[in-house]
Amino acid sequence: MTVLIEQLLQQRIGMDIRSVGRQTLQRVLSAELQKFSCNLADYQHQLPVSEPMWTSLVEAMVVPETWFFRYPESFRLVAELASHLLTRQSSARLAVLCLPCSTGEEPYSLAITLMQQGYQPNQFQIDALDINTKVLAQAEQGLFRDYSFRGCPAGLKERYFTARGGQYQIHPDLRQSVSFRYGNLLDSSTLPQKKYHLVFCRNLLIYFDQNTQQSAVRQLRQLMLPDGYLFSGPAETGAFLKAGMTSLTQRDSFAFANPQEKNRQTAVAKPLLVAVSGSALNKSTRTVAKPAGHRQKPGRTEVLPQAVPVKKNTGLLEDIEQQANQGQLTQALALCQQALTELGPSARLFYVWGLLSDSLDQKGNAEMYYRKALYIEPLHTQALKQLTALLRAQNDHAAAERFEQRLTPRK
Ligand SMILES: C[S@@+](CC[C@H](N)C(=O)[O-])C[C@H]1O[C@@H](n2cnc3c(N)ncnc32)[C@H](O)[C@@H]1O
Repeated sequence: MTVLIEQLLQQRIGMDIRSVGRQTLQRVLSAELQKFSCNLADYQHQLPVSEPMWTSLVEAMVVPETWFFRYPESFRLVAELASHLLTRQSSARLAVLCLPCSTGEEPYSLAITLMQQGYQPNQFQIDALDINTKVLAQAEQGLFRDYSFRGCPAGLKERYFTARGGQYQIHPDLRQSVSFRYGNLLDSSTLPQKKYHLVFCRNLLIYFDQNTQQSAVRQLRQLMLPDGYLFSGPAETGAFLKAGMTSLTQRDSFAFANPQEKNRQTAVAKPLLVAVSGSALNKSTRTVAKPAGHRQKPGRTEVLPQAVPVKKNTGLLEDIEQQANQGQLTQALALCQQALTELGPSARLFYVWGLLSDSLDQKGNAEMYYRKALYIEPLHTQALKQLTALLRAQNDHAAAERFEQRLTPRK
């Protein structure tokens, strides 16, 4: 019945209907038919050529979920990378792309991060794009409710916002440091013609099928400077690894570089880890970065250490985590069943199993293993975060909320 509409969503904005669920489409469609006072046949006929109908459908179907300083580790990494990039660039202006930006919390978090590092607004430019014009208008207004600040560092609201009628208005200098505009990642004619030091593309590829994900990754790489960095969402790392990008991530920052930049020199103070997604690693078994020597190149100051796995012991779980850490996802996944048979169930095993499934786009399995991890260890923070992100991506906000509540310390 709705095949044509599903195809249009897939072709134009990359949406794989399974990622949001056909029930969501049914619910949205009945509201749209009412809104435009037509039956399904007329609607399907008009939709491809009607701008208002198409815009309204997109706005109702896409998930604008976002908040300030989502995945805080990535912003810590941005703070470190920014100084390194600025010292290396003669232009001295950091170019940052945030696509999709939704209601603006993410690009404003980037602006706050850079300002906290002492950068003046004229030293960076943040371009923030989204396909949904409604959320762009909200982002431009810069007015936020408490909900947008969940999990934020204390004092953030007071320092960078002004209270206004129960909401919070972003300060004008921050507002002006971000340019918002329409952009569809799958339509290059709507995208900027420049290249960026930092590209944030988080929680968009989860809605795409695998082919569309790969076109999106190609497009994103076009938008990166050769020595730039790209930040993904936790459930999207697999698409970038599959495309041959190098994971340059500190724990939970989900950052990537172009492959030729694997051994790039950086001025980042702490050693970076080459890892699947950081979160696959347990502190006691994470890889330890070891300096790979100093090849001096003009304008570059310090070598990015190559990760050298250090085995604490020869256990199967450590092997799985090491392989995950080295990007050998399929091999690591294959060992999980063996680990279950030999070692029995544990939250640690189910968590990494979930994460590997997630990275390999096996969303059903990922959900099942995260739930198993939480059955054994109900407050396993990483499993809670991953499962919440996965459920939100599937539009199951009620379930996501239930798990998210466990992350909030009880008073
Ligand atoms: C879940 S939000 C992610 C926001 C933010 N990046 C974050 O992770 O917090 C997804 C956003 O993607 C936007 N979007 C969906 N399809 C898109 C496309 N093809 N191009 C650009 N933006 C798109 C939606 O409008 C929505 O605002």
